[in-house]
Amino acid sequence: MINIPSLQQKYKEYFSIGSAVSTNTIKLHDSLLKNHFNSITAENEMKFEHLQPKDNQFTFENADRLVTFAKENGMQMRGHALVWHNQTPDWVFENTSRSELLSRMKNHIFTVVDRYKGDIGSWDVVNEAIADECGKLLRASKWLEIIGEDFIEKAFEYAHEADSTAKLFYNDYNESHPEKREKIYMLVKSLVDRDIPIHGIGLQGHWNLADPNKDDIRMAIENYASLGLDLHITELDMSVFGWNDRRSNLTTPSEEMLEHQAKRYEEIFALLREYHQSITNVTFWGTADDYTWLDDFPVKGRKNWPFLFDENHQPKSSFHKVINF
Ligand code: XIL
Repeated sequence: MINIPSLQQKYKEYFSIGSAVSTNTIKLHDSLLKNHFNSITAENEMKFEHLQPKDNQFTFENADRLVTFAKENGMQMRGHALVWHNQTPDWVFENTSRSELLSRMKNHIFTVVDRYKGDIGSWDVVNEAIADECGKLLRASKWLEIIGEDFIEKAFEYAHEADSTAKLFYNDYNESHPEKREKIYMLVKSLVDRDIPIHGIGLQGHWNLADPNKDDIRMAIENYASLGLDLHITELDMSVFGWNDRRSNLTTPSEEMLEHQAKRYEEIFALLREYHQSITNVTFWGTADDYTWLDDFPVKGRKNWPFLFDENHQPKSSFHKVINF
């Protein structure tokens, strides 16, 4: 195989380069990960339902394996995610009161954050708490319903108590759309203003060929960076389909799609490099096109090709555009 330059080496002076992985994909993508990435996030195996499927019964085996893989390969590890409305088992919200749910939240955060103290430098503490609908700040969720709006600050306070050295992030999607951007900004600003321990904003970066446009991404970065926090791009992928595109029968991407994608990646990485003083990590939500959650979302079974490496783990035009600058 012809030697290709390493992505993480090339970006050393800018930000770390991450991938979302699982105990399966660290085997599948072993050499790509070791060559090109210096940060990993658990795609699922550190979510509440995986770590604490039953009340106070923790299962750390898979999460531990990912932490070991990161350590053995000198990679950073991002923790994802402590408090979220999804992938949280039902028992958490059953037969509970505000104070009981707060103590369940605290027990989860304390146990998990304490276990990985020193191994996980950044945590997505609260994920996707903002509503997408206009005129509404917070998304309806059991956390909000049972605890109230302060579930967000409580989560940050518990995480900080558990590990005062970890960087604590608020993470969300549609983060570059002007209306949601305003809401994320307002929420985070109110936390900062009240001295709640929050250190960063995660921009998920589930983007596609057309959306969001570059100016909106720039505005979002500037806006969030003005709060003086670290920014991570936490879940980057570039779908070849528009949001409302429901085509499902493509088995290979067209040349045109791949060229368009390469151009988008080129522009976007140039933009991210401009803001490297605020952006300290850029994580893809996967590694190569043979596996992506987008194969099942939002259209079940529809193949997508969102990454820099193809289904055979070879660099795509997108890779070359991102690395040649
Ligand atoms: C996704 C995973 O990629 C899927 O495997 C799982 O079925 C659902 O969750 N926002 C997030 C991530 O914060 O945790 C989600 O990950 C994708 C959207």
